[in-house]
Amino acid sequence: MRLLLAWYDRHGRQLPWRDSSPDPYAVWLSEIMLQQTTVATVIGYYRRFLERWPTLAALAAAERDEVLAAWAGLGYYARARNLHKCAQELAARGFPTEESELLRLPGIGPYTAAAIAAIAFDRPATVVDGNVERVIARLHAVKSTLPGAKPRLRELAHALTPSRRSGDYAQALMDLGATVCRPRTPECPACPWQADCLARQQGLQGQLPRRSPPTARPLRHGVVFWISDAEGRVLLRRRPDRGLLGGMMGFPTTPWRETAWSPAQARRQAPLKSRWRQLGQVAHGFTHFRLELTVLAGTCPNADLEGLWCPPVELDHHALPTLMKKVAKLAKEN
Ligand code: ADE
Repeated sequence: MRLLLAWYDRHGRQLPWRDSSPDPYAVWLSEIMLQQTTVATVIGYYRRFLERWPTLAALAAAERDEVLAAWAGLGYYARARNLHKCAQELAARGFPTEESELLRLPGIGPYTAAAIAAIAFDRPATVVDGNVERVIARLHAVKSTLPGAKPRLRELAHALTPSRRSGDYAQALMDLGATVCRPRTPECPACPWQADCLARQQGLQGQLPRRSPPTARPLRHGVVFWISDAEGRVLLRRRPDRGLLGGMMGFPTTPWRETAWSPAQARRQAPLKSRWRQLGQVAHGFTHFRLELTVLAGTCPNADLEGLWCPPVELDHHALPTLMKKVAKLAKEN
């Protein structure tokens, strides 16, 4: 333990949310952003959010759509909706310091509750993410496969969690996993735990943790409508709150389903009758499925459809999710 903390003091990453007396608001914001997103991507968003909403009260008072717009491009938009809801609850009741209470808040699961308790409040919470699982699997040479090995890895991680400097310890493990105990090319000579690492003693460090083969993500199909008016503006609509990309702006689409859409079926789903021209296809990966969207272009000369009519050069002002940006790019090129 001492070896790991000493390593962290010298080699830990300098990240903007790390501070010797961390602000719980900043820790919470960073941990929500870091769910499913890399550190490199998060840094810019984190800085912009704090600049615009420096306190919990400021974020709680923001319009939800402003928060969604600032989040655009980070993905997993339920996180942004929950972030705003959670800010309002936290502003009303104060920041709980206990893991069990943090867990009850919107958007805070076991990983995030433990991370906030440890990093913001120095509680001895056991923080387990993918990096930590890898380090622990190697340290103890756990050979069973993930995800089945998760409970065992958590137990082992729990046994190591110190009662002091818990936040530093949690972040030290994350950094060790990200910079030294890397997935395919661990750099064991730089590791503070090299002498104790059972995987290294057995020459298995590059092979652990083992994983069961991933199940293939199914492919879904949809049709998206690029509708222009006489002035060349295109129709944007806000997506329903529930469901994927909920609350975000986008071009109208059919539902996304496992069977492809025939041209006649697609036309029946369109917001209007038009002579549709097929521009091509856009592919996008979500967590649980891949999506292939066929892009149809049509016209609505007098713009008498509900939604927002936007000149294509101004689409950037509307904070489109990445999928919709891909659609716009294809349409503009055609
Ligand atoms: N990933 C998630 N939380 C992190 C943190 N606090 N530091 C580094 N990487 C992280």
